[in-house]
Amino acid sequence: MIKDRNGIYVYPFHKTEGSEFHEKRDRPALLRELNDNILHQINWETPFYINFLEECLKGFDLTGKTCLDLGSGDGRFTTYLISKGVKNIICVDSDYKTLHSLSVFSEKENFKDKITLINCSAHDLPIDDESIDVVLALGVFYYLGEFHKIGIKNVFDKLVKGGMLISSEPCKEGIAMRSLIFEGLNQMFDTIFKGEFYEKQGDIKGKFFLHDQDELLSMYQDSGFNLEKRKGLSIFHQIVRILYVKGSITKNDLESNLQNLSRVFDYLDKNGTFDKTHLFHHVK
Ligand SMILES: C[S@@+](CC[C@H](N)C(=O)[O-])C[C@H]1O[C@@H](n2cnc3c(N)ncnc32)[C@H](O)[C@@H]1O
Repeated sequence: MIKDRNGIYVYPFHKTEGSEFHEKRDRPALLRELNDNILHQINWETPFYINFLEECLKGFDLTGKTCLDLGSGDGRFTTYLISKGVKNIICVDSDYKTLHSLSVFSEKENFKDKITLINCSAHDLPIDDESIDVVLALGVFYYLGEFHKIGIKNVFDKLVKGGMLISSEPCKEGIAMRSLIFEGLNQMFDTIFKGEFYEKQGDIKGKFFLHDQDELLSMYQDSGFNLEKRKGLSIFHQIVRILYVKGSITKNDLESNLQNLSRVFDYLDKNGTFDKTHLFHHVK
């Protein structure tokens, strides 16, 4: 593989509905950038992802380790790994634009020498087997569609023995509730009965598949992983954000209630059951 002029290795890959959905969007998933917007769901959710990462990594010294940020996007969690002293992070994404954003950002923030950017798909990784200590795969496997399980098995092969995978997967119940509220009964039926749901940006729409939690855990287990921990991430952040975008909650409502919202999200983190996302911690 040869690095291009933006410092990105480009490795030809088989497109999936998920990778095409991201490529076609006029605004890529720049979640690191969105994290700066205090009125955005990403800003509300990110601390709960970080809490989970902290729990999983407790007692595990990342200094000098090699990590893989699979579906890294523009590096929302790459920066977290950098802050933990990781020596080398391989950032993989099928959407070139997100890696370009991360490349520019890493140069500005002086950590370009710590990251390797690869434009390829999560189910076909040009990385040596047993060479990675920790993999983050946050919000990426479900975009692989029919290659979902292959993606998980691939990651297993890349990890050293005892290495860990921290991943997230969409949760059927929360997504079904979102479908019911914003798309109606029929879409809720499709979500529950067929496991189908949609993501949209403007006119661009992608159809993705949801697995029940048992099916998901079987895919990891069949690949050889042992489950250490599971936690849910609430759907409420997203519902509040959609109601705001649709105009049912005003900007003023949000701005004057940020503290209360934060208290609600903290409460749901401890007591909620309507999850949008499963967070999994697996070990090889
Ligand atoms: C929801 S974003 C998550 C980004 C990042 N992990 C985060 O949480 O901030 C999903 C990312 O997965 C990428 N993606 C989609 N299909 C992919 C594939 N087949 N291989 C690698 N990345 C993919 C998208 O381009 C997008 O950047």
